[in-house]
Amino acid sequence: MNKDTAKQRIDNLVDQIQEHNYNYYTKSAPTITDYEFDMLLKELESLEADFPEFARPDSPTVRVGGAPTKEFTTIVHKYPMLSLANSYSEDEIREFDNRIKKLTNDPIEYVCELKFDGLSIGLTYKNGILTQAVTRGDGIQGDDVTNNVKTIKSIPLRLHGTFPDEFEIRGEVYMTLDGFRNLNSQRTELGFAPFANPRNAASGSLKMQDPKEVALRPLECFLYYVPGGQLMSDTHYGNLQQAKQMGLKISEHSEICANIEDVMSYINKWDKKRHYLNFEIDGIVIKVNNLQQQKQMGFTAKNPRWAIAYKFKAERVSTVLKSIDFQVGRTGAVTPVANLEPVHLAGTVVKRASLHNADIISNLDVRIGDHVYVEKGGEIIPKIVGIDMEQRLADSTPVKFIQNCPECGTPLIKNEGEAAHYCTNEDHCPPQIKGKLEHFISRKAMNIDSLGEGKIEMLFDNNLVNNIADFYELKYNDLIGLEKTTPAKDSGKEKKISFREKTVENILKGIENSKQIPFNKVLYALGIRYVGETVAKKLTSHYKNINNIRNAKFNELTDVDEIGVKIADSVLTWFNKPEHILLIKRLENAGLKLSLDENTENSTSILEDKTFVISGVFEKYSRNELKELIERNGGKNTGSISKNTDYIIAGDNMGPSKREKAVKLGIPLISETDFEQLIIS
Ligand code: IVH
Repeated sequence: MNKDTAKQRIDNLVDQIQEHNYNYYTKSAPTITDYEFDMLLKELESLEADFPEFARPDSPTVRVGGAPTKEFTTIVHKYPMLSLANSYSEDEIREFDNRIKKLTNDPIEYVCELKFDGLSIGLTYKNGILTQAVTRGDGIQGDDVTNNVKTIKSIPLRLHGTFPDEFEIRGEVYMTLDGFRNLNSQRTELGFAPFANPRNAASGSLKMQDPKEVALRPLECFLYYVPGGQLMSDTHYGNLQQAKQMGLKISEHSEICANIEDVMSYINKWDKKRHYLNFEIDGIVIKVNNLQQQKQMGFTAKNPRWAIAYKFKAERVSTVLKSIDFQVGRTGAVTPVANLEPVHLAGTVVKRASLHNADIISNLDVRIGDHVYVEKGGEIIPKIVGIDMEQRLADSTPVKFIQNCPECGTPLIKNEGEAAHYCTNEDHCPPQIKGKLEHFISRKAMNIDSLGEGKIEMLFDNNLVNNIADFYELKYNDLIGLEKTTPAKDSGKEKKISFREKTVENILKGIENSKQIPFNKVLYALGIRYVGETVAKKLTSHYKNINNIRNAKFNELTDVDEIGVKIADSVLTWFNKPEHILLIKRLENAGLKLSLDENTENSTSILEDKTFVISGVFEKYSRNELKELIERNGGKNTGSISKNTDYIIAGDNMGPSKREKAVKLGIPLISETDFEQLIIS
């Protein structure tokens, strides 16, 4: 390709991709499939590699271009970043309306907006290109987090249509509730303390030093304010509409209200509807719409006079703390859980609440018998947020965090800089053993789906499986006839599990099949602390076999891409235990893959997180070969089409019902040649 054509094509691709990003992330209305999008992006990446001189600063390939920052630069805000005065009642809103009416003789119109619960950000665009993103800081100056903000896909790197040469728009970076729950479950799985709420998760994420890490966090951003009359419109609402035309993400839920009665109905409507949003809001913001009037009213030292926040009462109830249980998880982390007098809260009966860790207990100074306030945050499990001190019993005493494991008696440890207490008896403490067994068989690890929590419990209780190597020594006669009845829970039904012929055959088959699982998944399945899926892949592709990992020195480990001190330490400690070496020997004898296969040597993670369904017959490949190719490139195979399917590889004679379902769910059907294109990097 000659230089001119390359430049033209790069420009054209940047435009196209930006348009598709806007359709997908901002309008939630994509016009092409993910596959087609990926193809455009790949083409752009390869052209930029061949013609770096034409790579543009606003290219969609450089969302994660910035280098890690040790300390963020401080930037003085051009317009101070003020906050809003808060109000909590209808009376206060009416007082605000009266104050406003005294400040002008002209009729007033309000705009009501959701009050997003995240962290405020100011975005500067110069000639339509995002050049700076600054946090609120103290309102006068904030941190330059531009490289991190560029990773948020709903923030355009370049604007559409017409825009001023330079202007700043402000908004809120937040985390979706789905994303927050996912992130917390991954963190707990890896032994990291979970974030207390989506706001903390969002602000923690935006302050991370490495944009690559930030890119993995489910952050979003709504824009809601243009300071200093920088746009053409004479109303706030008009400004937002202009910003929307430029491709900026504006909430659909803002409404113009002609009077304070309309404002009150907006507030009451959202007090109920907010529970159906996929993000948290903590109130409503009411703004005078006319910018001339806003200017007349001006600001106090801290807040604009022309706006006010109405804060929702958090759904909070009071109940009695009856006792605290201490639960031990797979990693040995001990979580205190409060047992409460059952109470209704936001549509459910709450009996338990998480207390997270010892610091939270001592900061709250919560005591048995206290009347505690319970709130629902982003988490499914509610939390204790305060105590009614007036009702505290005279003889109550502070809760003492346990010093020994409630399950096996081992003294607990607490590492510097970590919030959780741990039981270190990882190989003999029952919930840790069961947790490890469950992790081992889980879908992303050995994928033995004929076993599950209940069956594992039976095997453990019958002393048949005490560690992961025991699975591979199970015999038909050990299993047949085993029975267990689980007591009735809330549903009122007992559950009976019994191992009949078919069940036993399936279990043994599942275990046998797991011997084909690739080395990286086996390493992940071992349940070494901090060795998640990605770390396992890094280690296996670097060291090739288990003995090399076992013999690696600390410095060698930390030299591997993405392996830090904490992980290296954890790996060394694990392999230093003679019991673990024995475990590895037994797994090796059983025939598990403890080294990279010849053909997995050239494995990639191109298809990571992508789920495929293969349907029909093919010319070039057998179905098994396709499956293998998918796995070798980090993708997943499933048998049936669901909303989680990313692609269907469709051959001849694909069933009509499958085809219909695919079309209905909008899942792309690709040929085997399209698939080949996908895995060519
Ligand atoms: S307007 C000069 N609109 O709430 C006023 N703020 O204390 C600029 N917030 O710091 C703010 N949703 O972080 C505005 N729709 C919205 C908002 C909003 C959330 C945050 C913002 C601000 C705080 C108010």
